[in-house]
Amino acid sequence: MTATERSAQRAVDQGAALVTGAGTGIGAAITERLAAQGTDLVLVARDSARLEAAAAQLRAEHGVDVLTVPLDLSRQGAPAELAERLAEAGVEVGVLVNNAGAALVGTVGGADPARIRGLVDLNASAVAETTALFLPAMLARGNGAIVNIASTAAYAPAPYNAAYAASKAFVLSFTHALWHETRDTGVRVVAVSPGATETPMNPGSARGKRRPGQVADTVMAALRGRGPAVVDGRAFVFQTFVFSRLLPTRTAARITGSYFRKGALRKQS
Ligand SMILES: NC(=O)c1ccc[n+]([C@@H]2O[C@H](COP(=O)([O-])OP(=O)(O)OC[C@H]3O[C@@H](n4cnc5c(N)ncnc54)[C@H](OP(=O)(O)O)[C@@H]3O)[C@@H](O)[C@H]2O)c1
Repeated sequence: MTATERSAQRAVDQGAALVTGAGTGIGAAITERLAAQGTDLVLVARDSARLEAAAAQLRAEHGVDVLTVPLDLSRQGAPAELAERLAEAGVEVGVLVNNAGAALVGTVGGADPARIRGLVDLNASAVAETTALFLPAMLARGNGAIVNIASTAAYAPAPYNAAYAASKAFVLSFTHALWHETRDTGVRVVAVSPGATETPMNPGSARGKRRPGQVADTVMAALRGRGPAVVDGRAFVFQTFVFSRLLPTRTAARITGSYFRKGALRKQS
């Protein structure tokens, strides 16, 4: 039996956690927490060398089995390929974490239309399709969990990061609805929204920024919780409450726009 086959076998026995965007940032921190509690893992992202390095470290430090599936999830048909590969390997997914995502700071008018399409395909379409692919088996078993990583950007439109915020609003709305559909089925569904977090997507250590490990702790707590949506970090809980419940949408958009405009200008210079 090869190492990959052995990994698949143990994942079958225990029910693995499938984490997309697992090689870096928040995804890597989530896999670390899951491995620390003895959960076998399936890691998905595009960079296979980085995935393999992360897998080797998780195996060595926590003794769990880790399967890597290098895949571009924004590609049409990729989530179905992933499900097929796991079915062939006999891997049962107990926990699905839809974490892979990308941002595109700048104006819509100045963006490459294909990149906007790719962002929505990854952040929204792949999340919905992957969920629909793995949910039926969880429902049939009467257990499992799906965590969709949204963003505080889901709570208000974001000029200069428009497609990103809209795609995350999709994730939040989709997850809220799914939470209702799956109540009392034994399957836990929750959206977790980080705010600014220090990762390769959002480098630098500005004041108030969270660390990936803090977001991962929030994800682990959300898995044990009951509600449909959780925001990471007190300051961001307050911010999203103000933006979505207290301010008119236009005012909230003006504030988020002034934040992302700075990033767009930095990118241009
Ligand atoms: N950092 C923040 O401030 C922040 C705030 C709110 C929400 N979030 C959300 O948190 C999640 C994780 O982001 P992060 O901050 O940890 O950034 P990150 O370190 O850049 O992680 C993104 C992950 O997604 C993978 N990925 C990107 N494009 C992919 C594709 N087409 N197919 C498959 N995998 C792909 C990347 O690996 P490859 O490049 O190898 O594919 C990487 O592992 C995202 O959904 C993001 O929107 C982040």
